[in-house]
Amino acid sequence: MKYNTFTLIIRLLVFIKEFIPSILIAVFNGTLGFILAMNISIFASLAVLKYLEVPISLSYTQLFSIILISGALRGGVRYIEQYFNHLLAFKLLAILREKIFAILRKLSPSKLDEKNKGEILSMLQGDIETLEIFYAHTITPFAIALLTSSITALFLGIYIHWALGVFALFAYFLIGLVIPYFFYHSNHLLGEHYRQELSSSQEIYLQSIFGSYEILSQNRQKEQIQLISSTTQTLNSLSHALEEKNTYFKNLCNSAIILLNLCIILLTAFLAHQGRVENVMNILGFVTLTSSFGSVIALANLPHNLAMSFASGRRILDLLDEKPLVREGSEEFEFEELQVRNLSFEYENKQILKEINFEIKKGEISGIYGKSGSGKTTILKLLMHFYNPSGGEILYNGLPIELLSHQSLYHNVNLFSQETYLFATTIRENLKIANPNATEQELINATKEANIYELISKLPNQFDTKITDMQDNLSSGEKQRIGLARVFLKKPKLLLLDEATANIDILNESFILKTLKNLSHSMAILIISHRPSTLSICDRVYRLSEGRLQRE
Ligand SMILES: Nc1ncnc2c1ncn2[C@@H]1O[C@H](COP(=O)(O)OP(=O)(O)OP(=O)(O)O)[C@@H](O)[C@H]1O
Ligand SMILES: [Mg+2]
Repeated sequence: MKYNTFTLIIRLLVFIKEFIPSILIAVFNGTLGFILAMNISIFASLAVLKYLEVPISLSYTQLFSIILISGALRGGVRYIEQYFNHLLAFKLLAILREKIFAILRKLSPSKLDEKNKGEILSMLQGDIETLEIFYAHTITPFAIALLTSSITALFLGIYIHWALGVFALFAYFLIGLVIPYFFYHSNHLLGEHYRQELSSSQEIYLQSIFGSYEILSQNRQKEQIQLISSTTQTLNSLSHALEEKNTYFKNLCNSAIILLNLCIILLTAFLAHQGRVENVMNILGFVTLTSSFGSVIALANLPHNLAMSFASGRRILDLLDEKPLVREGSEEFEFEELQVRNLSFEYENKQILKEINFEIKKGEISGIYGKSGSGKTTILKLLMHFYNPSGGEILYNGLPIELLSHQSLYHNVNLFSQETYLFATTIRENLKIANPNATEQELINATKEANIYELISKLPNQFDTKITDMQDNLSSGEKQRIGLARVFLKKPKLLLLDEATANIDILNESFILKTLKNLSHSMAILIISHRPSTLSICDRVYRLSEGRLQRE
C-alpha cells in the first residue's frame, strides 16, 4: 500500500504512544534550552547598554551571573533533551525490529521464497537506523520549535510591540515550515530512489559473494565488477544529488535569515523613528528576534534526511502490513496418516497441480518422480503449509491442514532438501538443533546412520569442531550427510526428502537408503528423486506429469 506523507507520519507516530513522558521531558528541556540561549544574547545586550550608560536596573554582577547560569544550564538541559530523544528513538527501533522479525516469522517461508534477501537485510539494518532521524530528530524538534516560537512571538507581541510579534510568526513560518516543505517535496523522490538503490546494491553485493563460484567458473568477473561499479556509481550520483539539494536549501535558508534580519533592522528602526517603542525595549526586541531562529533552523535542515527516513518508514510499514499467505490453526496432532484429496495449486494463475490424490501411512515409503519443473517440490511445500492449496484438501489424521498449529506440523513433518544449511557453530550444536536433549550416544548413532561418523571421529575436536573452521573442506555430500544426521536425530513422524541424496555418491547413498528403510518402521517417508536407485526402496511410486499424479 502507498501512503501519503500525512498518513505515514500518523502511522509512525502511533508507535510513540507509550513514550509520551519521555517526549514531554525532552520538549520541556529543549524549549528551555533555546530560551536560555536567547537569554544570553538579551542579557549580554543589556550589559552593553549599561556600559553605554543607559539606565538598566540590574547590576553587572547580576547581568553576568544570569548569562553564566543560562550558559551552564543550557548545556545541562540540552543533554537531558538529547538523552530522552535517543532513549525514545532506540527503544522504538528495538520494538520495530522485533515487529519485523515477528512478521517475517509469520510470512516465511513463502515470503522468503519470493522476497529478495538484500531487501530484508537492508530493512533490518539501514531502514531501521534511518528511522532514528524521525524519532530522535524530528518529533521533539518540531514540538520544541512550535513552543519556543509561540513563547517568543507572544513575548515580543505583548511586551515590545504587536508588529514584532506578527513579524516573528511570519519569519518562523517561513524558515520552519515553508522552506522545509519545499525542500522535502523537491527531494523526497530522490531520497526514496536512493534507499531503493541502496537495498538493491546490497542484493548485488550478496550475490557477488554467494555466487562467486558461478561467477568464476562462468568467467563473469569483469561483468560482475562492472555491475558493482555501475551500482556504486548510481548510488554515488544519487547521494551527490541529495547533497547538492541539501546545500542549496541550507543556503536558501541562510539567505532567508539574512534577509529577515535586514527586515528586523528596518522594522525596529521604523518603530524607533516613529517613537512607538522605547529605545531599550526596541533593542531588546531586536536582539530577541534575531537570536530566536535556532529552533526553526533545526527544522529547516531536517528534510534532507527526513525524505530517506520516510522512505524507510514506508517500506517497513508495507512489510508490517503484509498478510501471511496462510493462516495456521491451533490443533495438535500425532502423525498417523496423510491423505491428499483432489489437490490443485497454481502460482499466480499458472496451474501447477491438477486434482492430485495420494495417501501416506506410517511404516511406508512413497516416491514421486517427474520432469524438472513439474511441481514435485511444490507438493512438499503444500504439505508443509507454506501455501494454501487452490483446490482440494490435505488431511493429516483426517484433520484439514488449515486447522493444525504450525508448531505441531513442523514437529511431526520434516522437509529435507538438496542443500543443507550448516550454522557457524560446532557440529554438535548443528546436530542438537534437531534435539537439544540428545545424548552423546544418540549423536553417534545418528551420524553413523547418515554414514558421516567416521569423518567426524577423525577430526581433532570431533563433534566440537567448528563448522566455520572446515566449511570449505566439507564436500556438499558431507554437508548433506551431517544434515541427514540432524534429521535422524529428530526422528520426525513424516520425512519429506526432496532430492536429498542427489549430491551423495552411490555408495554412501545406498548406506543411507538402508537407514531410511530401517527408520520407515516407525515413520512415513516421501522421497522425491530422479534416480531409480533411490526410488527402489519405495513401497509405492508416483509419476507427476502435466500437473497430474499417477501411481506406477
Ligand atoms: N514461488 C514461486 N512463484 C512462482 N512460480 C514458482 C514458484 N516456485 C516454483 N514455481 C514454478 O512452479 C513450477 C514447479 O516448480 P517446482 O519447484 O515444484 O518443480 P520441481 O518439480 O520440484 O522441479 P525440479 O525437479 O527442477 O526441482 C516451476 O515451473 C516453477 O518455475
Ligand atoms: Mg524441486
